Amino acid sequence: MCWSLISEKFVTQKSFVGLLLFAWATTLPAADQTPLAIIPVPQQVERPAGSFQLTPATRIYAAPELRETGEFIAAQLRSATGYSLKVETSSDARRADLNAIILTTTSTNTQLGAEGYELTVAAHSVVICAPTTAGIFYGGQTLRQLLPPEIFSTNQVSGVNWQMPAVHIADWPRFSWRGQMLDVSRHFYTKAEVETLLDLMALHKLNVFHWHLVDNQGWRIEIKKYPRLTQVGAWRKGIGWGLDPKASTAYRADGQYGGFYTQTDIRDVVAYATARHITIVPEIELPGHSAAALLAYPQFADYPGTNHPANYMVYDPANPEMFHFLEDVLTEIFALFPGKYIHIGGDEVAKTDWKNSPACQALMRREHLKNEEELQSWFIRQIATWVSAQGKTLVGWSEILQGGLAPDAVVMDWIGGGKEAAEAGHDVVMTPLTHCYLNYYQSTNFAAEPRAPLKHYIPLAKVYAFDPIPAGLPAAFQSHVLGAQGCLWTEWIASFPHAEYMLFPRLCALSEVVWSAKASRDWPDFQRRLAVHLVRLDELGVNHHP
Ligand code: ACM
Repeated sequence: MCWSLISEKFVTQKSFVGLLLFAWATTLPAADQTPLAIIPVPQQVERPAGSFQLTPATRIYAAPELRETGEFIAAQLRSATGYSLKVETSSDARRADLNAIILTTTSTNTQLGAEGYELTVAAHSVVICAPTTAGIFYGGQTLRQLLPPEIFSTNQVSGVNWQMPAVHIADWPRFSWRGQMLDVSRHFYTKAEVETLLDLMALHKLNVFHWHLVDNQGWRIEIKKYPRLTQVGAWRKGIGWGLDPKASTAYRADGQYGGFYTQTDIRDVVAYATARHITIVPEIELPGHSAAALLAYPQFADYPGTNHPANYMVYDPANPEMFHFLEDVLTEIFALFPGKYIHIGGDEVAKTDWKNSPACQALMRREHLKNEEELQSWFIRQIATWVSAQGKTLVGWSEILQGGLAPDAVVMDWIGGGKEAAEAGHDVVMTPLTHCYLNYYQSTNFAAEPRAPLKHYIPLAKVYAFDPIPAGLPAAFQSHVLGAQGCLWTEWIASFPHAEYMLFPRLCALSEVVWSAKASRDWPDFQRRLAVHLVRLDELGVNHHP
């Protein structure tokens, strides 16, 4: 328990005092009992009476290791209030005086885990205590949502009373992988746009940004050893999908369409994400979805001259130089991204070229591989063995199950396989296209909506009702479900405001799916809280669906 609860003498004799407080609270003016509107909804909330008034003189006291988080919280409170709250480093932040926001890691609450926090708002102080910096950070995100929604304004607002209701919150996430994927290959989004998404993820306590950097339509990351990957692979002629070039921010006057991130850009984005406790999982697609790379370096394709659309190009597993190429690329990737996971795609591999290639057929005989599915699995295992020797963990889409799963590989379930992989002892991340593909329509008023694939209709309520634990997965294997994520495939999404429109508010619902207790799911209450939350998104200038 946090010291502040004791110092403010709230709930030491929990049941008795709680009862008194409840009786007292019910007689308070309505303003003090406005229902909270926190998204994702916290695990435990108590509502004593009273409130805390934020003023220009409020100080933030932070233990030395929390100084940066203190500055971050101060900055988040500055734009709307205009207050430049002073951050004081104190090795014993608990000795802070009145009118203070206190950040401390002296928590003894073992329920909180690596990302949980306790937040106590009382008349004279706000205390966030958590065992880790991440927990303090998430407490800061909840703190913002206790203030009037105008706190999210990017400009100074006058005439708002910056008051928080007294509260005691104990909160921690249900899952450790709370993600969002962005496809920057079909459409290129600038570094600043990616950072805006990271801000919005942090606000919703999401912690994994899956960056789909490579696909048939564009290679988006500078690789020093292979400059043609971006010189050739980052650009295409025309926007594609029958879209209006004017709808895009990535169209050049010469008719070329695309862009890429330099390694300096990538380092900046990684630092930006780290400051928000977000891990980036880069995805480098192989052996299919690789036309952008293979048009730049056709020597690594199987049958470069084959008369079929470029989208069916695949890497040639019979060419040992091709594996050296991939290892070189991944070596540069690993130097840029500190996280433990590398996503290697593995989905929708066209196998015709392998069938027609005498070299691939000879390789299959040599390795006793019965069919091209087993060749695909052999390919992934070559990469997986090398990846794990580098100390990294491989993630791949559902199809990496075909022909046998590489040891220690994590399966990202988009079309099934999550349950089977978990039962076989593999970690899995759930992003079934029926619930988590946020590029599908969110309303059936197709005429009013921007064009989207027709395959599925995924309204907000369907996302909210999603459970990441696959049906029928026995309890003993459920800990292998690391969590879930939204996916945004951007074939039809040519601008960042359009991307925001597809993501919000569905990502708000998904944040509750991955953070909050399953038992707390309450659709009418979510809708009530969302009405307030949409005002916050409006203040931030997010282009959300109405
Ligand atoms: C996928 O949607 N092809 C993973």
